[in-house]
Amino acid sequence: MQQNWVEKIEDLHISVLLQELVENWKIFKDRKNIVVDCTLWLAWHASKIIEKLNSWDIFVWFDADKDNLALAQKRLEGIRWDIEIKLINSNFVNIKTELEKIGIDEITYVYYDLWLSSVHFDDASKWFSFRETGPLDMRLDKTSKLKAYDVVNYYPLNDLIKIFREYWEENMSARIAKSIVESRILKTIDTTTDLAEIINKISQFPQVKARIFQAIRIEVNKELENLEKSLQDAIKMLVLGWRIFAISFHSLEDRIVKQTFKREERDCICSDIICTCHHKKSLKNLYKKPILPTAEEQKANSRSRSAKARVAEKII
Ligand SMILES: C[S@@+](CC[C@H](N)C(=O)[O-])C[C@H]1O[C@@H](n2cnc3c(N)ncnc32)[C@H](O)[C@@H]1O
Repeated sequence: MQQNWVEKIEDLHISVLLQELVENWKIFKDRKNIVVDCTLWLAWHASKIIEKLNSWDIFVWFDADKDNLALAQKRLEGIRWDIEIKLINSNFVNIKTELEKIGIDEITYVYYDLWLSSVHFDDASKWFSFRETGPLDMRLDKTSKLKAYDVVNYYPLNDLIKIFREYWEENMSARIAKSIVESRILKTIDTTTDLAEIINKISQFPQVKARIFQAIRIEVNKELENLEKSLQDAIKMLVLGWRIFAISFHSLEDRIVKQTFKREERDCICSDIICTCHHKKSLKNLYKKPILPTAEEQKANSRSRSAKARVAEKII
């Protein structure tokens, strides 16, 4: 399966907001640039950044999916011999510890392109989709413990309702959660098809299945908590005057990016009359509204229509 993906590599993914990501990057001419791509996949974004780096700059590539990281490495192999490339197969939640392990404690540009990749949905062996029968897994990092199977078979009813509501504002949350709990009393829910059939009994709309699968995936991979922690750690490591750029594709992620950047624009984040949090502002949002793809980009790539990017600069 992997070999086919390598052959089809150029068709797999069109990067979103590529020009905007490059234009919002301030490159140092008089010091080492240390740029971090938190979500490498096919390295379309990285391939534009890499062209502009100065000799001896450092470019760090993160991807939690080791197959994706390997494909990108193959794709960009030998493109620049004069810069240092560091490949990190880890969740970007570990940005601080992973960078410290390789002796990096400050960065000059960091960016996120927050989506899975088309392989996660199209390659049946990844099991993120309800379209193919497979084990209920959904882990981006196959070494982590919690699988979709555990969420579906062991989470109490109220927790299922909560994740369906919180992670996709799905208005059939309670009915679907109840149906899952009733089904698993009779027999464990083992496969993506078992789960899809249970959802089908409540609603046959593919969007409902997609949302429930997405909610479970968000829970399994702790996507929202990890994003928030990663952004906070990345902001702390940013050099004064330099930037963070994040592209999101759904409102839950955009909300985290927006709130994190906003919080870092304020001097106090507690509601006490006399501040007890001693939080100091560290960022300035560069634009009041999110950056959206141009009409041409939206026309050329329908996936880009839901994209929103936010960019902020370190000020203290
Ligand atoms: C939309 S793709 C990135 C595309 C890339 N910017 C390009 O131009 O080709 C997102 C990638 O991020 C990875 N990813 C998603 N969540 C991640 C996380 N929490 N930590 C690290 N990598 C993650 C996925 O495995 C996928 O390869």
